Amino acid sequence: MYALIMGSSGDIGAGTAKKLADQGWSLYLHYNKNRQRIDDLYQQLSSKYPHQDFIPVQYDMESDQVDHLLSQIYGLDAIVFAQGNTYYKLLVDMDEQELDSLWNIHIKQPIMILKELQDKLATKHHGRVVFIGSIYGKIGSAMEVVYSTVKGAMSSFADAYAKEVASLGISVNVVAPGAVDTKMNNEFSKEDLEAVKEDIPANRLANADEIAELVDYLVEMKSNYLTGQTIYFAGGWLL
Ligand SMILES: NC(=O)c1ccc[n+]([C@@H]2O[C@H](COP(=O)([O-])OP(=O)(O)OC[C@H]3O[C@@H](n4cnc5c(N)ncnc54)[C@H](OP(=O)(O)O)[C@@H]3O)[C@@H](O)[C@H]2O)c1
Repeated sequence: MYALIMGSSGDIGAGTAKKLADQGWSLYLHYNKNRQRIDDLYQQLSSKYPHQDFIPVQYDMESDQVDHLLSQIYGLDAIVFAQGNTYYKLLVDMDEQELDSLWNIHIKQPIMILKELQDKLATKHHGRVVFIGSIYGKIGSAMEVVYSTVKGAMSSFADAYAKEVASLGISVNVVAPGAVDTKMNNEFSKEDLEAVKEDIPANRLANADEIAELVDYLVEMKSNYLTGQTIYFAGGWLL
């Protein structure tokens, strides 16, 4: 079984890669700029699981050259979209390039990739697609208006696409975290993160390994009957 993990060089992506490798998956480890982290992950996984394949794949999702990614992918049973970025600023301060970046990385490129890889996912009648969305796709956040917009679009896309491909055995779901302790939140001060923590009923941020557990369930599940869902994973926050 082969899975493509977009954003394997990120914290949630790397956590997911470790979990799926432990379950016996061979992995395409996608990265954009952080080659070092993928080299480290590759070394770690290859020595721990010598009978599985681990294949680094580079692709910048701000480019429009999806063929560059596709040429690196052969057999495929699952895709996890764990890449992402955000800009923490007022809508009026965002420029067009930032709008395009959010749209391309979270929505347009995943759709282009799925269009091209759908046949491979359908081959064994057991394809699995999991997006990492966000609670902000449901609730919306000031200072992250466009990020909230694309995360909402991600859930809408999953709703619709799940219906189109269920008969092919493919399931499509979204894991939508609240606040997760990853480098994406590095720009927030310790005090800011402490204040967020106090707002979360579970009284802590999630960690990447917990997200990976849920992703693992969604790619492993035996049937495609659980599909088109957005599962909020937020410790009771903002729900
Ligand atoms: N952390 C949170 O609190 C939180 C909460 C809810 C949802 N999420 C979502 O979870 C997902 C993963 O977030 P994370 O916290 O793990 O973030 P992270 O550690 O910052 O990782 C981000 C990943 O996205 C990749 N990426 C960024 N720009 C890219 C581009 N232009 N082309 C291709 N890949 C690109 C990065 O690749 P390189 O490093 O190789 O460039 C990296 O692998 C995102 O979709 C995020 O929106 C996070």
